[in-house]
Amino acid sequence: MTGNRTFTMIKPDAVENGHIGAILDKISAAGFKIVAMKFTHLSKRDAEAFYAVHNERPFFGELVSFMTRGPIVAAVLEKDNAVEDFRALIGATNPADAAEGTIRKLYATSLGENAVHGSDSDENAVIESAFHFSGREIF
Ligand code: PPS
Repeated sequence: MTGNRTFTMIKPDAVENGHIGAILDKISAAGFKIVAMKFTHLSKRDAEAFYAVHNERPFFGELVSFMTRGPIVAAVLEKDNAVEDFRALIGATNPADAAEGTIRKLYATSLGENAVHGSDSDENAVIESAFHFSGREIF
């Protein structure tokens, strides 16, 4: 899997606030095809492993606590230039800085509770997709 796939999570804040359907609509309307999807709940160990690259950052504990607070939607998305186009669709990490119409501008709560995750490189898209899905679960 290279180049045309990315990995996303609809985070606990957006799930709690009832935004799953609206976010999936935005994703589909932007031309992404869902090739894998599950509703799941990360354990502390899962979240610490998924975000291990950030484990020295001051917000790491807060991030793990937030991401394990409730269920998430995990999905693999397919489209040309998927990683870059999806990052543009979701907007800046801090919703206060996100462009109008982006998913974070519309649905995120704060920097720490920013509604969605999107892979930051093709390499990480592959790693993150494999973290959540076996090959048999990606279509
Ligand atoms: S990014 O989008 O990866 O370039 O952003 P980055 O600043 O490197 O942040 C990495 C992930 O940490 C989350 N984050 C935070 N969580 C809690 N508190 C604070 N202050 C904070 N700052 C950043 C950010 O949402 C990124 O999570 P993901 O799931 O990758 O979006």
